[in-house]
Amino acid sequence: MSEDLKREAGKAALSFVKPGMRLGIGTGSTAEAFIRELAPKVKAGLEIIGVPTSERTRALCEELSVPLTTLEETPQLDLTIDGADELDGRLNLIKGGGGALLREKIVAQASKSMIVIADQSKVVEVLGAYPLPIEVNRFGLTATRNAIDALASSLNLSGEITLRETDAGKLFETDGGHLIVDASFGRIPQPQALAVALNTIAGVVENGLFCALADKAIIAAASGVQIME
Ligand code: 5RP
Repeated sequence: MSEDLKREAGKAALSFVKPGMRLGIGTGSTAEAFIRELAPKVKAGLEIIGVPTSERTRALCEELSVPLTTLEETPQLDLTIDGADELDGRLNLIKGGGGALLREKIVAQASKSMIVIADQSKVVEVLGAYPLPIEVNRFGLTATRNAIDALASSLNLSGEITLRETDAGKLFETDGGHLIVDASFGRIPQPQALAVALNTIAGVVENGLFCALADKAIIAAASGVQIME
């Protein structure tokens, strides 16, 4: 997505931010565009308090003087604004491309409402072209990967399950100290069922399927911004 579209989506999301709101603040380049739109409004007097969904987002908010709290201090949030890797027409999402899915899901679940900001290319008919990020415990990694594989086969899903690495070839570690495997299933016709089933595997910490969490999506395209709900 071009920087312009990210900015348009971020700007449109601002209209849903009201004074006094407790905001969940997402992770990724689109969420960052939103933070860069939010910061001047805060500077101009908009009173909000944010809970960041990653250390990366925390650092940017601190740099731009967006006031932050923790989910411990503020366990109920009004609105979360976050990006997504894919979304379908029912607002099921794949998230976790940036590796923040666990905190993102905890924050979204603690919010009365969630708005997704994305560009048109992320809207799909059926989720799954984007590899599904699954956060896993380091202990028993191979057993967990095998269990994910077996579960996928039982649901007639197949595809490569790869352990995420950084560009420097090191294991990617989440803010929670876990690892991520990316499952290239291709098509996930029943995301809710897969999300529930994946989380029955003990080594799975959380999966990147966000079902029944988003209320709206702000979709930016060259032709303008549209709201899906
Ligand atoms: C991070 C995420 C991001 O929201 C998702 O990867 C989209 O990122 P971007 O806006 O950079 O495309 O889920 O864990």
